[in-house]
Amino acid sequence: MKIVLPLLFIALISCKTIAVAQAPTGLVTNKAMVVSAREEASTIAVEILKKGGNAFDAMVATELALAVSYPQAGNLGGGGFMVYRKANGETGALDYREKAPLAAFKNMYLDANGNVIPGKSTATALAIGIPGTISGMFEVHDKMGKLPMAKILEPIIALAERGVIITANQANSLTDYRATFIKANGKESLFSKVYAVGDTIKYPALARTLRRIAQNGRDEFYKGETAQKLVGFLAARGGNMTLEDLNKYNAKWRKPLTFKYKDLKITSMSPPSSGGICLNQIMKMIEPYDLASMGHNSTQTIQVITEAERRAYADRNFYLGDPDFVKLPIKELLDSTYIKNRMSDFTFEKATKSSAIAAGKISGYESKQTTHYSIVDAEGNAVSVTTTLNDNYGSKIYCDELGFFLNNQMDDFSAKPGVPNLYGLTGNEANSIAPEKRMLSSMTPTIVEKNGALFMVVGTPGGSTIITSVLQTILNVYEFGMSMQEAVDAPRFHHQWLPDEITFEPNSFDEKTLQALREKEYQINENNKEIIGQVDAILVLPNSKLEGGADRRNDNKAVGF
Ligand code: DON
Repeated sequence: MKIVLPLLFIALISCKTIAVAQAPTGLVTNKAMVVSAREEASTIAVEILKKGGNAFDAMVATELALAVSYPQAGNLGGGGFMVYRKANGETGALDYREKAPLAAFKNMYLDANGNVIPGKSTATALAIGIPGTISGMFEVHDKMGKLPMAKILEPIIALAERGVIITANQANSLTDYRATFIKANGKESLFSKVYAVGDTIKYPALARTLRRIAQNGRDEFYKGETAQKLVGFLAARGGNMTLEDLNKYNAKWRKPLTFKYKDLKITSMSPPSSGGICLNQIMKMIEPYDLASMGHNSTQTIQVITEAERRAYADRNFYLGDPDFVKLPIKELLDSTYIKNRMSDFTFEKATKSSAIAAGKISGYESKQTTHYSIVDAEGNAVSVTTTLNDNYGSKIYCDELGFFLNNQMDDFSAKPGVPNLYGLTGNEANSIAPEKRMLSSMTPTIVEKNGALFMVVGTPGGSTIITSVLQTILNVYEFGMSMQEAVDAPRFHHQWLPDEITFEPNSFDEKTLQALREKEYQINENNKEIIGQVDAILVLPNSKLEGGADRRNDNKAVGF
């Protein structure tokens, strides 16, 4: 008995933590796949792969096809982050996040009494950061692409000319925002018109801009006719972006953040996104708990994840910002003893109060739109990209002559310490405004490896909820044995330290579970109409085929071969 018992115990423990993988329920393909917010974009990118392009060419195609077909978030006037893993295992990351204009300053959104002026950082020409998308696309293409840029742009320009058919989701969105578009751009602007499901919107101005970019390269956007027109357009609306700002913009290669969770190796975005660091902290805080045996979305699982999220977001809001401007205590925040101590006051009996959690002491909600796409090519290169205008259609300011919306990414800075932004996130000195600084992001494009091989490509929009949606998607597959599609579709919840509440997707959680949480003094928010995230992911199956997870929330689509 003395020998058998421990053996049995070990067997039980290890059984608990091995999730039985579900048969795939999403699209399964043999070699390559693109999952994005629109079928048009996934299809164009897959065509590029079929013409001999690699995942990096397909990235450029997806990004710019989304700029045409998904104007809520696809963009020329915004920015994003990309994490890649080549077939040979090499990883890297590209930061094409917007920067504050040279004329920006710390208190630019405050009135004479030091209060934040509502709307100034979200709905004015001063809300716009210097766009990074075109610089990002050329960086990727120059360094890693295979096909000529003009060849990649060809079907995208054709799509802009041919037009895009409006889906039901898009028709609803355009109707919701029409009054705001009219206010921002006047009645004659392209998006101020009335559109119904099945109508086609053509984008001739965007096609002309893309054609000039195809002919003149990156400089067309940052120095050429497009730059000059953009600066003139914004100046007439009280903006502060200059030609010098555009001239000086450059996307930057960054070292991605890498960490282990059990036998997974996770590679995610480093600062100026908080995504990787926050995901790393949360996953390390929950690693000691046997979530698989606690059960998916059970009271205990929700407690463990919530408490880890609460603590990680408190640190995020205090310590993180643009690493080119502030020294970030990354080593300290990711230190194993620090992380262990951070959870030491957690008990299953009762919720920790966010008011009791400051940033740790270290030595030394209709959904807003961003969009994520995941790509794996036939050689096994993987690309994970999240790109955004920040809010739905960014600042809503649309340049009809050039054919694109401008971001309102400046709102991701902390306009004043402790005052929440669009996503309820508060910030501190580390994320205060300064000329040429990048605003802190939550975008979390992520690649997961298992046993040294590619396992999952994952990411999502959702502002502050991005990090926690990526987390739950990985756990859904790895701990709870779901297929990729099930993992993406499963109901999600979110905690971000402040406000001190757990947001649940409405009508999708067991009432008994919610009641048990209330009894432990958790604040439950189920009233929020907003969906949480739109995850687009790819899983490598044990037989090396690919399973797509195209989020049921909205028009996401997996395409492949
Ligand atoms: O960079 C960020 O964290 C935000 N600007 C992302 C905004 C977003 O995800 C909106 N989408 N739902």
